[in-house]
Amino acid sequence: MNDDTWRFVKKRTAADGAVYVSADGTRYRRTGGAELRAEAAFQRRIADLDYPVPQLLEEGFTDDGHYYVVEESLGDQTLHDRAVASLDGGRALADDVTDTVAQVGARLLRAQAAHVVQPTPGTLRQWLEGAGFTRNVFQENPDLDNTRTHAALDQALDRLATVPLVRGHLDYGLPNVLPAGVIDWQHHGLVPLGYDVLPALEIIAFKGGNKGYIASPGQRRRYLAALDDASLNTTGQPIAQNLGAYLLVKAMFFLALMRPTDPSRTDKYLKWQFRRHLFAKGLEQYERTGTVDTALFPGLEEFAAGHSAGDHP
Ligand SMILES: Nc1ncnc2c1ncn2[C@@H]1O[C@H](COP(=O)(O)OP(=O)(O)O)[C@@H](O)[C@H]1O
Ligand SMILES: [Mg+2]
Repeated sequence: MNDDTWRFVKKRTAADGAVYVSADGTRYRRTGGAELRAEAAFQRRIADLDYPVPQLLEEGFTDDGHYYVVEESLGDQTLHDRAVASLDGGRALADDVTDTVAQVGARLLRAQAAHVVQPTPGTLRQWLEGAGFTRNVFQENPDLDNTRTHAALDQALDRLATVPLVRGHLDYGLPNVLPAGVIDWQHHGLVPLGYDVLPALEIIAFKGGNKGYIASPGQRRRYLAALDDASLNTTGQPIAQNLGAYLLVKAMFFLALMRPTDPSRTDKYLKWQFRRHLFAKGLEQYERTGTVDTALFPGLEEFAAGHSAGDHP
């Protein structure tokens, strides 16, 4: 196994290190530091709990002292790749893609629900602060660090107080999902049940159209119904009613680390303003209705047109 030739895939998105694939495509290798070791330990643990994740095959240190871990490949196309490949000139996702997202989501949800973790006081708030990057969001957007935002977040936490806590992914979305399971556990941690899977089709809207595809209201309804079913069957409780609280946290997550340090980068400035707009919209909807309808989010281009025409203050 050690004489494998490895092809570079990409640098890791949110950590030091990189991803490589074996010449025959059957294994993936990641390099990294302490964070990767923690990720591998977590992945080994949840594999033992029957989560749909790749089995770890090997770990060790390279000659120059870098930690690496090798896992099985779950296939050659993520659901994001499949979504893009299934487009037929337009932006509508194929139903078989959203139905596959639902099947994998239901499997992950059942595994999570079968291994509830006992919370300590503060676990839910730690999840909120970590998942929503709230410190960074308030640092970069001090005007949002106000009683109104905190009241909505507190309300979301109250609402989630009785939801079981489970081992979670925290970066769950089509690019990390394959029909055979879920990859890329670098952000792992404890989450309220449903936080990973419920928003998977909704978060596409936060990209403002840059993903190239969008889920229809009917696809999103069917997806949530499938997850509600899976939850009812395992916990006796539905979960889709918590989508709004989760999307409020996602609206913060997508606003994190967006403020450009270089004010001359007008492209970055626009994206930051776009995410601020989505947060404001999400917050307002959540306050008024207890949920967030991502179908009401503008695309980035639409927002930019309105912005330059002066529609947006
Ligand atoms: N076990 C695996 N099975 C199939 N594809 C994988 C696997 N691990 C990684 N990949 C592919 O490599 C890409 C990058 O890996 P990932 O861990 O998601 O990196 P990043 O942290 O940068 O998102 C994935 O999007 C996927 O295409
Ligand atoms: Mg990834």
